[in-house]
Amino acid sequence: MKFFIDTANLSHIKEANDLGILDGVTTNPSLMAREGIQGKKAVMEHYAAICELVNGPISAEVLSDNSHDMLLEAEELAEIHENIVVKVPITLDGLKVIKNLSERRIATNCTLIFTAGQALLAAKAGATYVSPFLGRLDDVSAQGIVLVEHIRHIFDSYLYDTQILAASVRSSAHITQCASAGADVVTAPLEPIIGLIKHPLTTQGLEIFKKDSVHLK
Ligand code: E4P
Repeated sequence: MKFFIDTANLSHIKEANDLGILDGVTTNPSLMAREGIQGKKAVMEHYAAICELVNGPISAEVLSDNSHDMLLEAEELAEIHENIVVKVPITLDGLKVIKNLSERRIATNCTLIFTAGQALLAAKAGATYVSPFLGRLDDVSAQGIVLVEHIRHIFDSYLYDTQILAASVRSSAHITQCASAGADVVTAPLEPIIGLIKHPLTTQGLEIFKKDSVHLK
């Protein structure tokens, strides 16, 4: 399973990249706004800075809601760097954009997926990735991980090569659940990624070994 970091924060991206386990980055308009980025020029420069930091797919989301403008935006985003993946919402206009970009071999990430039917449409349109939002489903008393399993079953049954990019991940446990459910990629903030390494018995074991090694050096 590939690991993407879900942030536009450059120091978090660098920290995860330095661990040697990072395969890519996802952003969204809220994450960009959180970094205080304002205006198109600053947005484009920020994506370019992320592409300089990480050698892997970098999702950059379109902001328009009609297919004509989305396509123009997608072309501009794709020109920033060859690793840019154009993130497009699952709407009727978005679907047309995904189809158009896929025919031109421009990578896409279909976002805001909350049902298997939406994922199926995106895959048929030729999306490179679909992003089911686990945490937001959990927030409304549904089971996000069940959606990942459902999409996995459909994609395997019909041999779609669209990759399942599990998103809206809120915890380290979510990450391992995504791995069990067959997600191709998980995208998570830095904290749940780093949280995977923590265990009190590891910390305790290290302290014991340190104490016992005093006379061995
Ligand atoms: C997906 O790519 C989105 O950027 C993100 O995972 C949404 O997460 P949230 O529900 O925590 O905002």
